[in-house]
Amino acid sequence: MWRIYNPSGKKRVIVTKELPGVRWLDILTRADCKIEICTSTHVLQPDQILSAIGSHCDGAIGQLTENWDSGLFAALNAAHGAVYSNYAAGFDNVDIHAATRMKILVGNTPGVLTEPTAEMAVALTFAAARRVGESERFLRAGLFEGWLPTLFVGELLWCKTLGIIGGGRIGHAYARMMVEGHKMNLLYYDPSPNRDLEEYVAAYGEFLRSQGQQPVSCRRITHLEDLLMEADCISIHTVLNQTTYHLIDAQRMALMKDNAILINTSRGAVIDETALVEHCRRHPNFRAGLDVYEEEPQLKTGLTELDNVVLVPHIGSATMWTRQGMAVLAASNVAGIIMGYPVWDHSDVSPFLSDDPPLAAPSIVNAKELGLPAYR
Ligand code: DGY
Repeated sequence: MWRIYNPSGKKRVIVTKELPGVRWLDILTRADCKIEICTSTHVLQPDQILSAIGSHCDGAIGQLTENWDSGLFAALNAAHGAVYSNYAAGFDNVDIHAATRMKILVGNTPGVLTEPTAEMAVALTFAAARRVGESERFLRAGLFEGWLPTLFVGELLWCKTLGIIGGGRIGHAYARMMVEGHKMNLLYYDPSPNRDLEEYVAAYGEFLRSQGQQPVSCRRITHLEDLLMEADCISIHTVLNQTTYHLIDAQRMALMKDNAILINTSRGAVIDETALVEHCRRHPNFRAGLDVYEEEPQLKTGLTELDNVVLVPHIGSATMWTRQGMAVLAASNVAGIIMGYPVWDHSDVSPFLSDDPPLAAPSIVNAKELGLPAYR
């Protein structure tokens, strides 16, 4: 179940799943690591990870499907481990406080998922709006008897109002794709203003005006309820934490337009999935597009029976370039800490994908708390 790469390496690193590409293996090999990779596709249970950590383990790369809690970090600390990297941008599966208490640096892999995840949100948006899933099932079932004026009539999003919840990198990229491509007016809800996004939409609006077209607009909304009531399509791009758990619950869904579209490519538990099933049942013109689920891989009862919901299995970042890039970043986090490098202090991580990567760990989320110096 475990294969070993570079058996003569002096540092021991465990990797709980096979990762795409080979470059990540070279990075760890150059840091003199013996790499032990779990070849099973099953989610590892905590006791299996504990036994993989063993009595000596310098670092680990784990998955978003694993719960890296205080027990695992205590074991990593006892095994003289200094670093853990999630093979994901999100890290709601990691107890950062516990890791920090045990002086373990925690890495993640942002920056290479932005456009692919935004593209998936766009794909789900139009699949939901234009009823792609249900009409494909209809066709495959041999039910198509010819063109009809009323067959699978969906929603047009052109020039309508888009609401995004979370104006970070992925929300920003999705908003640009939808505003630029579909001339949608943008509302966004985020604790911090995104001036770049506001300026971009303003400049694009000016360009449209200069062409004699209706300009687009961008407004930051301070009360989520206002966005939910006004938007025709709402896409979630926030992290999951205590403040965003079930952010979209039954009461808030009730505020949305009866024919609104709700997209989620962030984390499932931002939506109360049981409430969503009920809402979609009672509002057949409401549509949802989901990549993520509250209790992955389980789906809430009734979800798969709904025709007004498009479902894909958490594949937002699933392009080979992205998944190989995530492997490079996770390996660079672990190798960088093992080599005693500082932390990269820029949001652009693309230099790590080049042939001459910086001598730094690309993304360490508790670097400040643990006093890791920044790369200059
Ligand atoms: C992440 O990296 O957080 C994504 O959910 C993986 O697709």
